[in-house]
Amino acid sequence: MVSRVIPVDPFDLVIFGGTGDLARRKILPGLYRRFLAGQMPPDSRIIGAARAELDDAGFRLMVGDAIAEFVPKDRQDKAQVAAFLDRIGYVSIDAKGTGGWEQLKGRMRPNVVRAFYFSVAPALFGDLAERLHAHGIADAWSRIVVEKPFGRDLASARALNAVLAEHFDEHQIYRIDHYLGKETVQNLMAVRFANILFEPLWKAEYIDHVQITVAETVGVEGRGAYYDKSGAMRDMVQNHLMQLLCLIAMEPPYHFDPDAVRDEKLKVIRALDAVKPEDIVRGQYLGGGGQGGYVEHSENPNSRTESYIALKCHISNWRWKGTPFYLRTGKRLRARASEIAITFKEPPHSIFDDAKGWRENVLVIRLQPNEGMNLMMMIKEPGPGGMRLMQVPLDMSFADALGADAEDIPDAYERLIMDVIRGNQTLFMRGDEVEAAWAWADPIIAGWEGRGDRPQGYDPGSSGPEDALMLMHRDGRRWREIKG
Ligand code: BG6
Repeated sequence: MVSRVIPVDPFDLVIFGGTGDLARRKILPGLYRRFLAGQMPPDSRIIGAARAELDDAGFRLMVGDAIAEFVPKDRQDKAQVAAFLDRIGYVSIDAKGTGGWEQLKGRMRPNVVRAFYFSVAPALFGDLAERLHAHGIADAWSRIVVEKPFGRDLASARALNAVLAEHFDEHQIYRIDHYLGKETVQNLMAVRFANILFEPLWKAEYIDHVQITVAETVGVEGRGAYYDKSGAMRDMVQNHLMQLLCLIAMEPPYHFDPDAVRDEKLKVIRALDAVKPEDIVRGQYLGGGGQGGYVEHSENPNSRTESYIALKCHISNWRWKGTPFYLRTGKRLRARASEIAITFKEPPHSIFDDAKGWRENVLVIRLQPNEGMNLMMMIKEPGPGGMRLMQVPLDMSFADALGADAEDIPDAYERLIMDVIRGNQTLFMRGDEVEAAWAWADPIIAGWEGRGDRPQGYDPGSSGPEDALMLMHRDGRRWREIKG
């Protein structure tokens, strides 16, 4: 069953960029669902703040439309939606000027948690932080939430950290990586640290390799201009895949506590080796089936930006020396499928003659879809006639295990926003962690830019470029099939 809902303290949450896409798709529908679950105290307020000249009623209409579009129909109770909208207000604000700030101040109430969600371009972070202070809207207990991209390289991430640090302490800054809010990602920590079963084997001595796959079927249409300046390395690997890698590779923290967890993740990032050029494969999806390819979607016929990347990484520490981590992510692939697969080594000696039937143990953690876990085990093939081996999955699908409650698993954003209100930073990135991840990614990107490498084309609906297969074949290993 889904954990009890623990109500948070009353809050005033200001969403800068409240009329934007992320607010409409994720933040506001997520808040509505938390309201429905009884987690949002009645005297909490949500205030949209954006450039658009709207009043409270106009913004409420917009939020109502967002709920109608992005919340499942069976959760749209008229009376509940109306009660939720009653808690919503709007202030038209000039992020770079003076307009609206005093009105916003007038809306804030004493003795409630104040949180400010910067769902805006990073170029505005500094302006917002400065004005929140100058107008006396933020205080030492206020929190700010910032979205990715957190910089596009180490220098810009440092600059962003510096600008935020002028007005807020690190304990007030919540840098979102929504992958950390995914239920199975948190479960990864529970599986590792709440069971004795895996931890003794969790090291290079017993683990052959790790595969992390985040495959998507969507292309970059509609956001090609942004994406073309970013690419899969900046958009997915530096943050989401890096976080997954950290949770698999980190040492047990002494406590499930924000700094203890983040200290351990930071050590992993710092222990990552530079990635060799031959261990990187970049791809770009081609057109096909009446659909445009990457270059059409990015409107850049000469684009060298990758919509797919596969890399082999090594972690230089005692636990992991010699166990490669293979990472891959891409757009327009065969299926939407994200998983982490941990492949164990062979037993030291086989007592059975049936070597053919033998396969490695693999622990597969499925992030999406069908969240759950699979442990691939060897058993005896049933029936008479000698000892033949076969591999079967010990399958734990969360939907089966949780039954009807599975539908109530909160979306990543719901969980993370409530953590902000609670003042719990465990699932948010610390400034030094983000900088370390860029310090690792920067030379990789500079390497291919300096060499003028072009990504290899791949067919839409495929598993990515041919060379990515070779990255594994060369090592006598294979990627797992991408299937939804
Ligand atoms: C975002 C990336 O951070 O994550 C997108 O910018 C990507 O390019 C998305 O599509 C994937 O998130 P999810 O939750 O759908 O796996």
